[in-house]
Amino acid sequence: MAALKVGIIGLGGIARSHCDSIAHLDQVEVVAVADLFEEKRREYMDKYHIPKGYSTHHELLEDADVDAVAVVLGHQLHHQLTIDACRAGKHVLVEKPMAISLEQCDAMVAAAAENNVKLMVGLSQHFYSTSLKAKEILDSGQLGPVITAVSYMSKNWNFAGRRPQYRSRFHGGGMWLTNGVHVVDRLTWVMASQAASVSASIGTRAHYQASDDSATAFIRYKNGLAGTAVAVGYTDGAPNFECQVICANGSLRFSQHGEKYVKVGQGDTWEDVPFEDAPTEMYHEWESFAEAIALNIEPPTHGQYGRHIMEILFAAEASSLTRREVKIGRRPHWQTQTSGAPVTTQHGWI
Ligand SMILES: NC(=O)c1ccc[n+]([C@@H]2O[C@H](COP(=O)([O-])OP(=O)(O)OC[C@H]3O[C@@H](n4cnc5c(N)ncnc54)[C@H](O)[C@@H]3O)[C@@H](O)[C@H]2O)c1
Repeated sequence: MAALKVGIIGLGGIARSHCDSIAHLDQVEVVAVADLFEEKRREYMDKYHIPKGYSTHHELLEDADVDAVAVVLGHQLHHQLTIDACRAGKHVLVEKPMAISLEQCDAMVAAAAENNVKLMVGLSQHFYSTSLKAKEILDSGQLGPVITAVSYMSKNWNFAGRRPQYRSRFHGGGMWLTNGVHVVDRLTWVMASQAASVSASIGTRAHYQASDDSATAFIRYKNGLAGTAVAVGYTDGAPNFECQVICANGSLRFSQHGEKYVKVGQGDTWEDVPFEDAPTEMYHEWESFAEAIALNIEPPTHGQYGRHIMEILFAAEASSLTRREVKIGRRPHWQTQTSGAPVTTQHGWI
């Protein structure tokens, strides 16, 4: 079978993880990159032996060799670039968070359907070896039914090193949309249900910036269960990336960052569970995307799923503003950037 030919759009930091993972997969190859900056294009083309580099995504989308693209840039650009890519007939893996309003998510899902291409959201924690092992244990039934779960991400916000758009809620920044999306994805996945309502407290507590840096959300699911999502970007502390699931006949803890583990708790003791580690963190993400295209099936974190995760995040924001529990589907919303244009290329606002 011919390899899936991929174009990577946006060569900031995390594009390296995408290229490193693709390098380990025979069924995927990067044939082109796009970035506004020549030195970025050159760096990636040289390091990963990529034959073509374009200065904008428009030129890359005209390349008939490209089957699929990864949209790997600022949150405020995900919507327009995904739609442009779908219209050009390319399958899309868009980085998280899917987009910065629910209307944008809807338009992306519609564009993929209208142009008969796959749309997957890069909710990378879904595809970690530790997460896949944890889910396998839960699905096996060996711990009995899930009772509740807590999903954490607390880490240094790295204010000084963070680009301005990621500190501006107008552009889809802040801890909640940037990293809360991971904890809500993980929680929703282990709860194995759609969310029904959310009650949250979200604030800017450790930094002077126009977006939040900390959030705690209590999410009720349609299957009657509830769980907690915690996302905090502190100025100093020690990180916690754990997800803890309490079931009727056993407990489970798993984490990929810092210490990497899957632990099962039974008989008052925690035991490490062995798991097969992938060579890179995005290995299974790209494997799943390529498989979905090859088999013409929906990818695990498809557009509708990504939209639901954003719906929970936006409802949590509304809950925090109104101090009420918010039903999913009914909420006031933030005003956000609606155009696909970078704000400026002169102050790092890209
Ligand atoms: N899945 C994860 O674990 C993970 C980790 C880190 C970042 N991310 C996500 O990845 C995305 C990118 O973040 P980042 O920090 O790597 O990138 P970044 O924002 O630092 O860089 C984006 C790049 O895109 C380029 N660009 C902007 N507009 C363009 C256009 N029209 N055509 C071509 N290039 C264009 C810019 O020149 C810049 O180099 C974000 O959505 C972020 O949340 C995901």
